[in-house]
Amino acid sequence: SDHNYDYDVLVIGAGPGGYVAAIRAAQLGLKTACAESRETLGGTCLNVGCIPSKAMLHASEYFDAAANGAMESMGIDVSPKLNLPKMHDQRLDAVNGLTKGIEFLFKKNKVDWKKGRASFVDGHTVEVGGEKVTAKDIVIATGSSVTQLPGVEVDNDKGVVVDSTGALELAKVPEHMVVIGGGVIGLELGSVWRRLGAKVTCVEFLDEILPGMDGDIRKESRKIFKKQGIEFKLGTKVTGVSVKGKKATLTLEPAKGGDAETMEADCVLVSIGRRPNTEGLGLDAIGLETNERGQIETDHSFRTKVDSVWAIGDVIPGPMLAHKAEDEGIAVAENIAGETGIVNHDVIPSVVYTLPEIAGVGLTTEQAIEKAGGDKSKVKVSKFPMMANSRAKTNHEPDGLVKVIADAETDRVLGIWAIASVAGTMIAEACIAMEFGATSEDIAYTCHAHPTHAEALKEAAMSIQGKPIHI
Ligand code: FAD
Ligand code: NAI
Repeated sequence: SDHNYDYDVLVIGAGPGGYVAAIRAAQLGLKTACAESRETLGGTCLNVGCIPSKAMLHASEYFDAAANGAMESMGIDVSPKLNLPKMHDQRLDAVNGLTKGIEFLFKKNKVDWKKGRASFVDGHTVEVGGEKVTAKDIVIATGSSVTQLPGVEVDNDKGVVVDSTGALELAKVPEHMVVIGGGVIGLELGSVWRRLGAKVTCVEFLDEILPGMDGDIRKESRKIFKKQGIEFKLGTKVTGVSVKGKKATLTLEPAKGGDAETMEADCVLVSIGRRPNTEGLGLDAIGLETNERGQIETDHSFRTKVDSVWAIGDVIPGPMLAHKAEDEGIAVAENIAGETGIVNHDVIPSVVYTLPEIAGVGLTTEQAIEKAGGDKSKVKVSKFPMMANSRAKTNHEPDGLVKVIADAETDRVLGIWAIASVAGTMIAEACIAMEFGATSEDIAYTCHAHPTHAEALKEAAMSIQGKPIHI
């Protein structure tokens, strides 16, 4: 083009999608800017998502081990005392260190940070911080925010009815926390406060927690959380929450209809999902529409219907996960630079960072059978219990299992699911196997170090072959 644009690439949003896209574009020699309205870079993930939640999960896991017998069972007698302000400080330290790190990476790669909310003027121009910025290509990476429950007002400062951001920074341990939604956020943050001493009740609309995951894994996870002390009310919807001072009263109804009941709590966490951020972005100005779920649609190269505009991350269809956003960030930059950027959306792992962790990649058993036209004989499934894994047993971590799902005819692996203390790390191996089109036999005949939790995956694969050793 004979235009003189300010930049080759302008990225809107500096979350894991946007900041990665900006850095990759700069690495590929493109003059790049990134608009971000937050005070710090890193988006939801670094500021109020993945990182602070893992800081609280890690710290509370230690407290739980000290307070609830796990350390004692290994011959370590302790009487822990919670210093919650200090626990919050180490969370903020983690967030500050990492968001500053992105600022450093922007400087190192010569990515200009345009501070402020960006909105489109036309397909090559956005207004940000009172300035018009032009670019040959523009990437929308505006992410997502919390879905509100109609009629329920969140006030994170007050700390009575909170969303995930408020639940990360509660100033005191609630006596009774009610979690609305048995999804990833409810279970992770519910676990944090349960470990620190709260009674936790989780209200889930569906008949089982963790929708989208493998059926056995959902059921087994719930049993484990229940054993840990989280109470569940499944098939139940919250129809209202009223707040008086520091107390909340929830009204609950069976999802299928029936008599309402009430429940008291001093903290209510609303975690019923997230929705894409497109408000105020000026999509009208470029003639771009969102789909019925509020998402921006793209083709496989992440280009929207407007040639110069691309989109990635939580704002487009697919799982709302940081690593999915990051991989799309790399791919979109490569595509803009004229290379071939590809994301294999069939192999995106998902992990719930509780103890044990819950992880999976590929198809669930239910999806695999459905894909086989409902013919169960076309799908092979095997399970190996962590109880029979020497390392898990030695570490007092008997809960969980590994499940391998393979095509009955070709033996190709279709999905792998795990509940284990280190399932999030184990699932990386499953991703590599699936990315390389492995059969369950390939995994069964790959030497795994002993004693490791990962051997449970090898044994689950051996079970598919019909010859496990340790069960
Ligand atoms: P975001 O991270 O949401 O970033 C978008 C950025 O764009 C934001 O900073 C926003 O301020 C900015 N922005 C929006 N509109 C504009 C505009 N008009 N102008 C300028 N800037 C704008 N995922 C995982 O994979 N693992 C986890 O462990 C995990 N834990 C989570 C825990 C919690 C509590 C939450 C809430 C989420 C968690 N997630 C996790 C999800 C993860 O945070 C998101 O999938 C990820 O951040 C999406 O990245 P993104 O770049 O698409 O968007
Ligand atoms: P979610 O989609 O995981 O779970 C929401 C749950 O709420 C579902 O089980 C749903 O059935 C239930 N629900 C919906 N409406 C309800 C109602 N009215 N009453 C009772 N239950 C209701 O959403 P969540 O937990 O809010 O997390 C949002 C997203 O953030 C996740 O989808 C995930 O992509 C991301 N995330 C990822 C993490 C990770 O990777 N470890 C951690 C935290 C968040």
